[in-house]
Formats: sequence, structure tokens, C-alpha cells
Amino acid sequence: MQMSIHRFTSQIVTAGVFALLVNVGTSQQLIAQTGPSPDPGNDVTFTRDVAPILQANCQVCHQPGAIGPMSLMEYQDVRRYARRITRMVEARDMPPYQYDADVGIQDLKEDWRMSDDDIATISAWVAAGSPEGDPADMPEPVEWPDPAEFKLADRFGEPDVIVYSEPYNVPEVGQDRWWRPIVPTGVTSDRCIKAIETKPSVVGRAVAHHANSSFRVDGESAGRLSEYALGKVGEIVPEGACRRIPANADVAFDIHYWPNGVEIEGDQIEVAIWLHDEDYEGTHDQSLTLYYLNGGRGFDIAPHGTLMTQGFHSFDTPVRIDSWQPHGHTRLVAMSIQILRKNGRRETVSMVSNWSALWHHSHIYDDDVAPLLEVGDQLILTGWYDNTEENRYNPDPDQWVGIGDRTADEMSHAWIAVTHLDEEGFQKIKAERSRPVSQQPDRDR
Ligand code: HEC
Repeated sequence: MQMSIHRFTSQIVTAGVFALLVNVGTSQQLIAQTGPSPDPGNDVTFTRDVAPILQANCQVCHQPGAIGPMSLMEYQDVRRYARRITRMVEARDMPPYQYDADVGIQDLKEDWRMSDDDIATISAWVAAGSPEGDPADMPEPVEWPDPAEFKLADRFGEPDVIVYSEPYNVPEVGQDRWWRPIVPTGVTSDRCIKAIETKPSVVGRAVAHHANSSFRVDGESAGRLSEYALGKVGEIVPEGACRRIPANADVAFDIHYWPNGVEIEGDQIEVAIWLHDEDYEGTHDQSLTLYYLNGGRGFDIAPHGTLMTQGFHSFDTPVRIDSWQPHGHTRLVAMSIQILRKNGRRETVSMVSNWSALWHHSHIYDDDVAPLLEVGDQLILTGWYDNTEENRYNPDPDQWVGIGDRTADEMSHAWIAVTHLDEEGFQKIKAERSRPVSQQPDRDR
């Protein structure tokens, strides 16, 4: 742990040199010698330099009434937490978005990671004694959307459909429990989905561990709608693809509640769906599917032991991988997704080496970098588990840990959204990507 933080800090310093030179007016030589503690005489201030960074990266959760444990709105509040803030941002534990910055694809949609420059500015400010600066430099406060609103509404407007799970009473304490109501969507024709967001209630966020939803037509399962786990925002289907909502379908919920010290009466989870216009067809179908790392078989992790699991997946048409979301509990520490090309070359697509089960993100690849697989290529998913005391999230290294649904058990899968192409669609995407940027269609950035 010590090692990796150290290595990381020196990377930040290198990448942050330019910013520090501009902000601090000091020499590169000095930064290189002093590492993350720059010249204490510098003039990085809260009001001018730090407050805008907190507005952009932290305040959505760290304001009164939001999910963060303290407010980061005012100078006095932030100053109290200054050292902890630097530690968390340098280790990239906050903002919570676990995704390695030095491996694989880096162009992601809904990416919460902070820039190296911003991290360096916070470090320099704390090292300089956290000065307030001129109050006149303070940026205008941000107008925050209501936390009870859907986050994707900013981008897509009001949802076309909202499906509510039936009310459930969650006790203050007790075992994990599962709630599986079936609710009609009310959509009467086949339509293509633009985006989906699953939202637990404001009080229920602390106990809704995950909420999956799939379609049923006449009692038969008819594909996956969405997946939600703690910390996740939503899913966006790429332009051109179609994730289908069948006519007159029901939504079958699979909700995992985890009693956590708050009693909640009649909790409901909402799934918002934004639809494409009726005449939109999409050229290819997209599906969200659970891919196992261990073939769905059981495993045991010994007390104080570690484990690696690996799963291989191939497809019978060419595909595009649109998003990837690792899933595990407290012993999972890392997961990667790679492509084994049919010529034997292996490419790492993404890696999460500081996994935390508190936060689940669907890492959505930018349209022009989403990985393409030909028939014969394989996906390799690898997960690493640590049941020793080295794992900071491990609740009890003396336990045997098996696979299972309870929070105390482990899991071994990833959720992957795949667009199923044909040869023509595959060649078309490849050709578009190799055109010079000036000839490419405008992208929504
Ligand atoms: C998506 C919501 C979210 C965002 C964005 C976010 N935080 Fe947090 N933060 C939390 C939650 C929830 C916790 C408590 C649980 C945890 O530690 O994961 C937390 C914990 C912390 C802690 C530890 C507090 C303690 O008592 O030890 C610090 C420090 C912190 N955040 C700083 C930041 C900073 C700085 C930013 C922006 C750069 C940020 N956070 C962005 C939600 C968020």
C-alpha cells in the first residue's frame, strides 16, 4: 500500500509541474526536490484555486443533506479536513471512481476522476498551510439539482417511463433480504431505450445494496433491463444501438436490501427509462449481461488467504464492448478486462486495482474507442481476492468466504453491455474510426 501511494504521488508531481509552475511561480527544480510539499511561500488559495475544484468534484455529495459524511462548501469546513482530503484525493479514493489511470482505455463517459493538475493544486494548498485567500475570489455557489431528482434528467430531460418497485419494509437490523416484485411498464409497443437510471429512495440509499431489473412478457423472461448497485448513476445506450423494451412487458425486480441501522417503511426503488422516438430502430441490438469470472461455479477463500479467478468469453458475431462494471463484495480487491485476439495478442482494456464495494460504476467507453471484437477473439475477465488483514475493507480475515448472495459472501462477475454487430456493421465502425478527425461526424462530447 505504502509503495503504491508513494509511486502515485510522484506521478502526480511530475504531471502537476506545469500547473504548479503557473500557479506558484516556482521552479521545476524545486518541485522535483521537495516532492509533494512545495514551497510554503506559494500563493495557492482556497477561494481562487481550491473552491472551484471542490465545486466540480466533491460538493454534489459533500453538502448538507447529501450522502457525504461532511460538508465541503465553506472554507472553515474544508480546512478542518484538509489533510484527510489530500490523502483521499492523492490515493484516488475520492471522488469515488475506481479506475486505473495508467492502463487501457482512458476515454470514458460519466468519468468522475480528477485531473492530475487539480490533485496537485489541492496537495500544494494543504502543504502551504491551507490559506483562505481573498474572499472576493470565491466563485459563485453552484445551483444543485434536488437529490431526489434523476441525475440523467440534466441530460435527457424528464424520463418517459418510471417503474416503481412495490413498497417494502426494511427493518433496522437483521439478515440480508431479497424483494422481487413484478410491475408493468405500461409501454405498449416495442421501443429502443436511450438511457436508464435506477434510483433508491433518499433514505433507502443506505440499505439498497443492489437492484437488478429484467423484462418479462407473459411470465417469460425477455431480457435484462438494468443493474444497480450502491453508488452507481445509470446506463446510456450508445447512439445507433438499440436496447429493446418489449411491448407490454413487466419489470421483474431483484432487490437486495441490507439492514443497516435505519428502519424504513414502505421503501420503493424507481427505474427511470428514457426512450428513443417511436420510429428509431437502431442498427444493432445491445444487451447488458452478467459475465462470470469462474463459470458461475463456487469457490472458497481460506482465512488469511488470497484467490484469483478468471473467465473466458467468446461471441458468435463481431461485437462492440460498450461498458464494463466489475461486481464483488469486500474481499474483491481488483478486476481487469482483457481481449485475447485470435492471433494470440493480449490487450488490456481496463483495470480497477483499488476496488471498493461501496461504489459501483459502469465504466462507459467513449463511442470512438469502445473495443471491437471479431469472431474468434475472446474476453478475459480476471478477479483478485484478498482475505488477509492487508485488505482494508475485510471485515473478518478469520472467516472462510464462499460464493453467495449475502454481503458477507463473495461474488465473481462483471456486467458488460455488448452491441451485437454483423460483418457489415463491424467494418463500418472500423472505417469510421480510421477516417481523419475532420471527416468524422460531430460527436456529442
Ligand atoms: C458520489 C459522492 C461523493 C463524491 C463526488 C465525493 N465524495 Fe467524499 N465521501 C462520500 C461518502 C459517501 C463518504 C463516506 C464513505 C466513504 O468513505 O466512502 C466520503 C468520504 C470522504 C472523506 C473521508 C471522511 C472521513 O470522515 O474520513 C473525505 C476526506 C472525502 N470524502 C473527501 C472528498 C473530496 C475532497 C471529494 C472531491 C475531490 C469527494 N470527497 C467527492 C461521497 C462522495
